[in-house]
Amino acid sequence: MKLHILPTAQDAAKAAADHIAVKVKGGSVRVLGLATGRTPIALYQRLVDHVAGGKLDLRMIESFNLDEYVGLRAEDPCSFHAYMQQHLFSHAPLKHSYLLEGDAEDPFAECDRYEREIRDAGGIDLQLLGIGQNGHIGFNEPESAHDSRTRPVTLNAMTRAANQPDFPGGRTVPEQALTMGIGTILEARVLVLLATGAAKAQALNAALQGAVSLECPASALQAHADLTVFADTEAASRLGPALAAGPQQGA
Ligand code: PGA
Repeated sequence: MKLHILPTAQDAAKAAADHIAVKVKGGSVRVLGLATGRTPIALYQRLVDHVAGGKLDLRMIESFNLDEYVGLRAEDPCSFHAYMQQHLFSHAPLKHSYLLEGDAEDPFAECDRYEREIRDAGGIDLQLLGIGQNGHIGFNEPESAHDSRTRPVTLNAMTRAANQPDFPGGRTVPEQALTMGIGTILEARVLVLLATGAAKAQALNAALQGAVSLECPASALQAHADLTVFADTEAASRLGPALAAGPQQGA
């Protein structure tokens, strides 16, 4: 595992974006796994800036998003489809973007389709991840099996409360979602985790330094051979001295 600790959330997002851009330009990333949430907004802004400045071209890149809320149509402004359009796709066209369809008639068949599409694309070269305050990755909540596949899941109270600001106007966060499984995520050849803010400090410490456990889904990442973590000082504030001050630290 490589760990980069940057002074601010903005710095961490920029460093993660630049890391991804270098890999895309180098040709090792053709299939990109994408994440949503507040954390990667600055990362997408940086990628868009690179594209606008002619320094990056995503038109040969296929993407797969981690998750989507059950029941939301792609056009719903609270959907992750809409988020991706807003923050990346409308500014930087990709070859093709795959997302789980939250309003699919048969959610189980939809998840099987997604797994098939990932396989048919040759697998995910680089998967971007955030981390929930409860240690979730994608919408794999605590107790998710570490070999789980893409499937419908029930969101827990902490996750729904954290995401409630994304549902204005009296709407409530859906109770269910479709998510890539932890096993699916671990099959990506390269993983990049971006964690910023003090609210993520405990989860990041549990993920990187705690026991590998079902209670912290992100602890499954310890088994991956190519994980790079970008954190700001706040998110890294609970990491033990060995990790936080070790030779892996840097920008
Ligand atoms: P956030 O979500 O970036 O909105 O904190 C991250 C996550 O839940 O994975």
